[in-house]
Amino acid sequence: DWTMGAYREEAIRKIRDQVGDKKVICALSGGVDSSVAAVLIHEAIGAQLTCVFVDHGLLRQNEATEVVTMFRDHYNLPLIHADESELFLSRLDGVSDPETKRKIIGGLFIDVFQRYADGIDGAEYLAQGTLYPDVIESVSFSGGPSVTIKSHHNVGGLPEKMGLKLVEPLRELFKDEVRALGHELGLPASFIGRHPFPGPGLAIRCPGEITREKLEILRKADAVYIDQIRRHGLYDEIWQAFVAILPVRTVGVMGDGRTYDYACALRAVTSVDGMTADYYPFSHEFLGETATRIINEVQGINRVTYDITSKPPGTIEWE
Ligand code: XMP
Repeated sequence: DWTMGAYREEAIRKIRDQVGDKKVICALSGGVDSSVAAVLIHEAIGAQLTCVFVDHGLLRQNEATEVVTMFRDHYNLPLIHADESELFLSRLDGVSDPETKRKIIGGLFIDVFQRYADGIDGAEYLAQGTLYPDVIESVSFSGGPSVTIKSHHNVGGLPEKMGLKLVEPLRELFKDEVRALGHELGLPASFIGRHPFPGPGLAIRCPGEITREKLEILRKADAVYIDQIRRHGLYDEIWQAFVAILPVRTVGVMGDGRTYDYACALRAVTSVDGMTADYYPFSHEFLGETATRIINEVQGINRVTYDITSKPPGTIEWE
């Protein structure tokens, strides 16, 4: 694409002009925006960039490995894998209130990022994947159900606190342009087309108390669900799809035994911007097959429901 090729050259020149020989740090979430920003900045200034991938223990199956492998091994990007899952999960122990969960995760995220950033000698800039819509629309991490687009990646307030200047090479772009730029930079199409994933991760897909057991079950069920969606060629028609594990066990029967396991809810929506959404009209065959697969393949779940709430009045996430 000629336009994006030109944009890329121009953006690289601007980053070099701005940063000079100084160091830049970046919180890489594995989402499209921060990934495209990181790869672009890396092209501009190479090893002057260090990325920190904060693993809060609330990621999907294989996510941390996939992100770290891709950026470190494939892109050769200096990347710290901050495995802080013990810290996050222990602080979330026994917490069930949704806003409290978000505040704990948001606060810890900033503390952890700052701790790793302090260890990088002489960093003067913080890179962010801020897009044009983020510039014109105010967002906040814990701002309740309708305003939370990507404050998690944007580590709000941190640059001032740490005395860092900002590098925001995507500030003029809309989401589809960021995807085009990612394509231009050689990021795999499967990565660029990924559904959005919220900063607080699986915490907000596990209503009630978060336990390691529930997270493990949730990861497995989610992987089966997404696999089903991909196999049926539906992934790109859907804005976002995921499983929520419900805080209730129900009775079932399997073989000649009684089961007493968790129920889960499947969620899939179409949307343009995440502000409003409609539930995706799966066929009954698809839903039945998916329920059977989840119950057969995921130990710990014996009941599957489909969430047919649109937004509004529901939100996309369960918390
Ligand atoms: P809701 O649940 O509010 O979600 O309808 C709208 C969109 O925002 C995502 N989301 C978040 N993204 N940090 C994020 O980076 C958050 O705290 C957060 N909360 C919700 C959600 O996945 C959906 O795409």
